[in-house]
Amino acid sequence: MADQAFVTLATHDGYARGAMVLGKSLRNHHTSRKLVALIGPQVSDTCQSVLKRIFDEVKVVDVLDSGDATHLDMMKRPDLGVTFTKLHCWTLTQFSKCVFMDADTLVLSNVDELFEREELSAAPDPGWPDCFNSGVFVFRPSLETHGKLLQHCTEHGSFDGGDQGVLNGFFSDWATADISKHLPFIYNLSSIAIYTYLPAFKQFGGNAKVVHFLGKTKPWSYTFDPKSKRITGEAHEAASQPTFLLDWWTLYSSAVVPMLQEQHGDQPFQSGCVEYCDTVPIESEEIPEASCSSPAQVETPLSSEQRKQKWEQGQADYMGTDSFDNIKSKLDTFLK
Ligand code: UDP
Ligand code: GLC
Ligand code: MN
Repeated sequence: MADQAFVTLATHDGYARGAMVLGKSLRNHHTSRKLVALIGPQVSDTCQSVLKRIFDEVKVVDVLDSGDATHLDMMKRPDLGVTFTKLHCWTLTQFSKCVFMDADTLVLSNVDELFEREELSAAPDPGWPDCFNSGVFVFRPSLETHGKLLQHCTEHGSFDGGDQGVLNGFFSDWATADISKHLPFIYNLSSIAIYTYLPAFKQFGGNAKVVHFLGKTKPWSYTFDPKSKRITGEAHEAASQPTFLLDWWTLYSSAVVPMLQEQHGDQPFQSGCVEYCDTVPIESEEIPEASCSSPAQVETPLSSEQRKQKWEQGQADYMGTDSFDNIKSKLDTFLK
């Protein structure tokens, strides 16, 4: 099965953490396929090293951005323009068939049977089920298809500003042409469906094979206390998907954090990955102000919300507000 692979994408360290957990979950469920991570040049060396330990191949790719603020604003996700980078997965022609999985997905059991499906197989999007969700899909790498997809982007753009709009435009007969290309929802169980259709979730959720933490708030946006196993975050979301979130955090803290710490070694804690973030609260008002030497930061302090967003995007200010000393003193307040 060396010519088939699971592929994911991380343009920065935030999503790289998701990719690590996804990769680990695929390994834990004994996949017989290769694992490939496409990453942006912004991913830190520490994260790259850990990704290389989990994935068979880690490939740096150019970040493609739709720059389509109008459509992205309609989804309230200005950050998703860079999902055009996903289209690079069609260039992986060393493989005959692949399954793409968003970095915010988690595998709950072996899903190698997905390789029995053909391009383009995907599950319905919970928001508009005549569109497929592009968080999990089966495809055949091909430079020809890649070229056509880029051409499609140039000529038609994307109706949502991200890859899902382009892919649904390109594979436009998905809804009607071939039912075997409709993956069951359990291969891409969007966590939002849990609260939009709770009875169905209660009935069928136990069969879930892949959970997708779709939406703005990602597992790494929450706070986790490994001792009490408590997750805190935005109340309605945390309450609606506690088991899956706990699965994610348990894997992250038990398998990924030790690797990040090992990789980090004794070097001074500068930029890079978020080794210590598993118990770090996102509400940065509570983190003591840093004795910050950067004039830019002194002149234009970021709001709490802006700092939270930057943290979630993997752009923590490790030399300033988010320095290890500050994080440690925050942890100390918890321990007390
Ligand atoms: N992604 C990325 N960097 C970004 C945004 C997205 O690498 O800044 C990748 C990542 O693999 C992510 C996927 O693109 O899982 C789709 O984005 P996201 O999962 O946030 O979209 P959603 O599923 O929430 O609509
Ligand atoms: C979606 C998909 C995601 C995709 C994004 C942008 O909601 O879950 O995979 O990248 O839309 O099109
Ligand atoms: Mn996603």
